Amino acid sequence: MEVKLEKLKAKEARWAAELIAFEFKKEPYKIKWAQDLEKTVREQVTRAPKLAFKITRNKKNAGIMLCRESLWEPAGKACFIEMLALESKFQGHGIGKKAMQLLEERLKKEEFAVLTLLSDPKTAAFGFYKSQGFKKSRWEFIEKELK
Ligand SMILES: CC(C)(COP(=O)(O)OP(=O)(O)OC[C@H]1O[C@@H](n2cnc3c(N)ncnc32)[C@H](O)[C@@H]1OP(=O)(O)O)[C@@H](O)C(=O)NCCC(=O)NCCS
Repeated sequence: MEVKLEKLKAKEARWAAELIAFEFKKEPYKIKWAQDLEKTVREQVTRAPKLAFKITRNKKNAGIMLCRESLWEPAGKACFIEMLALESKFQGHGIGKKAMQLLEERLKKEEFAVLTLLSDPKTAAFGFYKSQGFKKSRWEFIEKELK
């Protein structure tokens, strides 16, 4: 099995947006995106082209991994994973794990010190992240509702 992280192209934004919409409308996320996802993905690709990836398995598109450099990390350069999703048929075959390893290798070469993301403890993905060595951050995520 050959898993690769490749540059996500702007012209693939629609596919990526459809994948995100489909995967995150499922339980327990049930997200109804208020924004135009395709535009958001395109902006992400433009803003952080070196950190916007598609995950391929044996040369076929299997998923996306959208990251950006986070400014708020005194420990050094930090990478924040905005979005990680595999197409349903590619889930549970070790592809997410391999993609995470590939990302970590790249980030270490570029002297990143930390990899962060937000994950809901109620989701299966949370178990995945824990199995890949993620731990509770010393930061606490806080918010204020505006409507
Ligand atoms: C989350 C996701 C990226 C994980 O990728 P994946 O390819 O399905 O996961 P893998 O098959 O590589 O699993 C790797 C390891 O995680 C473990 N794991 C997966 N889900 C787990 C869970 N719910 N609890 C504990 N461990 C889990 C596996 O057992 C495996 O462990 P192993 O290496 O010891 O065998 C993928 O399932 C996905 O896209 N899900 C839908 C979208 C989503 O939830 N994205 C994350 C949003 S924050």
